[in-house]
Amino acid sequence: MAEERETASVRAAFEKHFGLAPDVVAYSPGRVNLLGEHTDYNGGFVLPMALRGLGVSIALGKGDKPGVIEAYSDTFAETEIRNIEDGRQGRWSDYLLGCLKAVAAEDVARTGLCVALETTLPMGAGLSSSAALEVVSIKAALALYGRQMSAVDVAVKARAVENEFVGMPCGIMDQFASSVGDPGVAMFLNTNTLAYELVTTSAEHAFVIIASGVSHQLVDGGEDGYATRVAECKAACAALQVEMLSDLGPSDLDRINAIPEPLNRRARHIINDNQHVLDGVAALKAHDMARFGELMIASHASQRDDYQITVAETDLIAETALSFGALGARQTGGGWGGSVVALIEKDKAEEFCKRIVARFEKASILAVT
Ligand code: GLA
Repeated sequence: MAEERETASVRAAFEKHFGLAPDVVAYSPGRVNLLGEHTDYNGGFVLPMALRGLGVSIALGKGDKPGVIEAYSDTFAETEIRNIEDGRQGRWSDYLLGCLKAVAAEDVARTGLCVALETTLPMGAGLSSSAALEVVSIKAALALYGRQMSAVDVAVKARAVENEFVGMPCGIMDQFASSVGDPGVAMFLNTNTLAYELVTTSAEHAFVIIASGVSHQLVDGGEDGYATRVAECKAACAALQVEMLSDLGPSDLDRINAIPEPLNRRARHIINDNQHVLDGVAALKAHDMARFGELMIASHASQRDDYQITVAETDLIAETALSFGALGARQTGGGWGGSVVALIEKDKAEEFCKRIVARFEKASILAVT
């Protein structure tokens, strides 16, 4: 596989840990989402961008204990021993195990597996570390056992693992961006048809990813968790008599406003953020980054007021980013913390980053892309 730069370190970690060279290595990136949040499990549009240099790398070697997976992770500085027959146990290795079960159950039952994992993607930063782990696990397992699968099918499989094995009812955006995306290039994806288009962004502008320092938690994420939003969207569909909220558009807003709280807000966010993606793609193509920034601001407000998935820290960082000269800023990812993405002219980015970290003690700059 190509990706030599990203996998040199995991190769070395594997050799150190297991005392021999891995059979395969692979790397998959995380993503930042630029517009369209929570639209992906509603059949809507999203605009993620795979990240350069932030991702998960893996090294695999066949083991000598049939069915046994020995997985070492630098992030957790520990080894987890699992069996291919295991069910979910609420541990990080569930993501790896679910993927191996999905594409290589019989092979692993025969050979056993040694695994080393490294990540440059902080967990809980809303940059889809779990999807990158799933995608890289599937890619590497396929390579190890000499099987082919298209990048789109890898994304579909990875999402199924997260839904069915890990138990997180996510959409397909993250896995798709990690598997199919081109780092540094925005991806306009129709999550209903899986049709996509890569859209370049302005070379004179940068997206700055600011980790808020508030970790988000999506599986069993408390009473306001991700699964609650998924259920509310289903209830809104029933109230509005549609199969998917993406069947509706801005001309349906009167009908949407008339259904009970909070379902009206939830549906309104989906319809509005879906439209933000369409308008955002048009703005990128017209090189109108000021307009793109306005859409990011509107998207943050919609997440805050209608979808109610922002937190005080991300609201304040987004607001402060604008007062420090950003053209737009919004919380990105699953919600309840994580990161804020801000759009700024490239020549102002350095000063901007300095001011943000000076102002917010817990925040850090994860990428300027
Ligand atoms: C998480 C999920 C995605 C998507 C986003 C919100 O990252 O994994 O499928 O729903 O939240 O846009």
